Amino acid sequence: SGLVTIDPGFKNTGSTESAITFLDGEKGILRYRGYSIEELAEKSTFLEVSYLLINGELPTAKELENFKSKITHHTLIHEDIKSILDGFPSNAHPMGVLSSLVSSLTAFYPESLDPNRSAEGVNLSILRILAKLPTMAAWAYKNEIGHPVNYPDNRLDYCSNFLKMMFALPTDDYKVDPVVASALDKLLILHADHEQNCSTSTVRLVGSSHASLYASISGGINALWGPLHGGANQAVIEMLEAIQADGGDVKKYMAKAKDKDDPFRLMGFGHRVYKNFDPRAKIIKKAADDVLAKLGINDPILEIAKGLEEVALSDPYFIERKLYPNVDFYSGIIYRAIGIPTSMFTVMFAIGRLPGWIAQWKEMRENGEPIGRPRQIYTGANLRPFVPMEKR
Ligand code: CMC
Repeated sequence: SGLVTIDPGFKNTGSTESAITFLDGEKGILRYRGYSIEELAEKSTFLEVSYLLINGELPTAKELENFKSKITHHTLIHEDIKSILDGFPSNAHPMGVLSSLVSSLTAFYPESLDPNRSAEGVNLSILRILAKLPTMAAWAYKNEIGHPVNYPDNRLDYCSNFLKMMFALPTDDYKVDPVVASALDKLLILHADHEQNCSTSTVRLVGSSHASLYASISGGINALWGPLHGGANQAVIEMLEAIQADGGDVKKYMAKAKDKDDPFRLMGFGHRVYKNFDPRAKIIKKAADDVLAKLGINDPILEIAKGLEEVALSDPYFIERKLYPNVDFYSGIIYRAIGIPTSMFTVMFAIGRLPGWIAQWKEMRENGEPIGRPRQIYTGANLRPFVPMEKR
């Protein structure tokens, strides 16, 4: 139909009004609910930011305590979920496992399927998913390496508890390093929301059919998995390792990235909306330096990353196209430094992005937005008679 205009990849199509995240890609500005990402990364905590994104305002001390204690209360997951986990082969990528386990919550909490749930009912689903995602994520990792799972330790804060479930062995006396926990907390804040990106748009689109929060989040996790989106943090480290193994010649890889006949792209560079420095990349670069120094780690990969950045920023191809390092360029280096295995990088992104997905899903439902249903322009065959089998 002549009235439909097509905008592949929705490069210039707005899908919604939103009061959650402000982003100016030309200037490199990012704010959650009006607070700058720089200030939040420095002064806030991940659960406080989660409360802010989901409820619109910073919590009072009492509201935050209450929020945290409710989340802590729900960290255990149903034992039957363990048998679902056991059905996965070891080596299964933790992202696929995670989205499946999240989807399974619809079966354990069928009341979440009711599109007319009360606000308290919705809030309970929100607390449950915030509480259970780190447990499921750590279990997906334990499955991957074939180790027994750890149960949550509710004496610990959100990040410390996750780290303990990830790394404690049945026989050791695992102590969380506070430098590691606080680095993780900061990374999660930086990933917490990013307006209508691919996974968030997916969450909103799935939820627009009045599917449950868990089903919508599961869809978001799958969308995040791809290497052009959240999967980029894993792809960055794999790329840096490949460059290192190949002698560390960054210029050679720069030439590959510019060669249109070569599918290679410089992972961690470029962004649909940032045509300037991704403000999160600036914070992460500094954090990477701090964390490595505090932990006394000297990672040659960091030097390769810095070399690559330097060459790219002065290269006409990258300058013309306004390609700058994005959030994923340095995040993997911190994850590596704090012991997170490469296969879990995108899972870490999912844990960070969860409050954003929730806030966006909730906003869409509260605003009574219609079902998402884009149009198309048909380019296939005209009407033609059915061809019987013997004549094909
Ligand atoms: N390396 C080499 N060339 C690139 C790159 C790159 N990383 N990114 C973009 N380009 C080129 C692209 O080939 C195109 O060139 P031309 O105009 O000559 O055809 C031009 O720059 C515009 O790129 P595009 O693909 O049309 O831009 P897009 O908005 O569709 O894609 C992107 C954005 C992030 C998918 C893309 O920049 C990319 O693939 N980057 C690498 C993957 C990555 O780091 N993703 C993480 C994004 S941040 C985390 C998150 O998802 O939130």
